[in-house]
Amino acid sequence: MDILIIGGTQFVGRHLVESALAAGHRVTLFNRGKTGAGLYPEAEHLIGDRDGNLDALKGRKWDVAFDPAGYVPRIVQQSAELLKDAVGRYVYVSSISVYVDSDNADENAPLNVMDDPTSEDIAKHYGALKVACENVVTEIYGERGLNIRPGFIIGPYDSVPRLPGLLWRYDRDGERVAGPPEQLVQIIHARDMADWMMKAIEAGYHGPYNLTGHPFPMRTLLDTIVEVTGQNTRITYTNDELLKMHDIQPVDSVGYWVPHENEGYMRCNVDKVFATGFTERPLKQMITETLAWLRKDGFKSEALMEKIQSRALTLEKEAEMLTAWKKEHENS
Ligand SMILES: NC(=O)c1ccc[n+]([C@@H]2O[C@H](COP(=O)([O-])OP(=O)(O)OC[C@H]3O[C@@H](n4cnc5c(N)ncnc54)[C@H](OP(=O)(O)O)[C@@H]3O)[C@@H](O)[C@H]2O)c1
Repeated sequence: MDILIIGGTQFVGRHLVESALAAGHRVTLFNRGKTGAGLYPEAEHLIGDRDGNLDALKGRKWDVAFDPAGYVPRIVQQSAELLKDAVGRYVYVSSISVYVDSDNADENAPLNVMDDPTSEDIAKHYGALKVACENVVTEIYGERGLNIRPGFIIGPYDSVPRLPGLLWRYDRDGERVAGPPEQLVQIIHARDMADWMMKAIEAGYHGPYNLTGHPFPMRTLLDTIVEVTGQNTRITYTNDELLKMHDIQPVDSVGYWVPHENEGYMRCNVDKVFATGFTERPLKQMITETLAWLRKDGFKSEALMEKIQSRALTLEKEAEMLTAWKKEHENS
């Protein structure tokens, strides 16, 4: 197949490119040439700006366009409209953040709505903007459109400091602080996601699909991390109260911790995608691959380390939390 990927050089897009090339497809990337310049010489590269300069896409045809990194409907509309008669299918990467409540949400659960339809503030309206982007794809493509709703994505090239931040903290000897061991975690490896998206195109799936793994306990994630890093680690499990008391940011800061009342983020319904035969690599392999990439490249990237240092739990704060936990428990 001839495949167009709008973006394709940061994280999710890279896995799409690699999955498509591995399956023998011909791949064209369209981006500004800023991120990951020089990657994938075996693909065709078209330079432009998806917001206002799509000239390089004009007069061409592809079997499918993948749009892994669209956040604003006005901008997704530009490529979706332009490619309407030039591509067979349009695949948009959305998010499970589209749901008002993702707890056991299947694809028909209520979706977020923009309270201010003119706003393009992605940080503030991420989920509702993703809904609006999906609507653009559905309106233009109908049954030729596929909207993928991933959960928390992990894997090599990760540009979000969640698993990278957790692995950075765990890739050393010492005592680590964690929330409750039984809290559920629901993640997907970006390459499993990309491989399923390639198959979905061949199978002709359309409409929305939640795309993430089955939930499993935090203890399983952390035990696997300790096994893979091979460090001399002791984990002290605590509770929501301690993490809240220390203003820990859910999901991002202590690696996928969410307070009990928000555990629905980790319990999205995945029956539809698993019914298609979706398979995942084992957790140990996911962690091994991600850690190998971090040790080789990720921990050397200034951009990623800046994000880890500003958003993930620092060793100083972790030490404070452990001291506070022990003090409380010694006194009780
Ligand atoms: N991380 C998670 O846990 C999670 C969970 C659910 C959903 N998601 C979704 O997953 C996706 C992740 O995207 P990604 O960043 O990994 O995708 P990506 O395709 O790997 O990277 C973004 C691409 O967009 C290009 N780009 C940026 N601005 C552009 C512009 N104005 N014109 C043309 N190209 C432009 C960048 O290249 P240049 O800079 O060179 O232009 C880059 O190639 C997002 O849609 C996110 O909402 C993530």
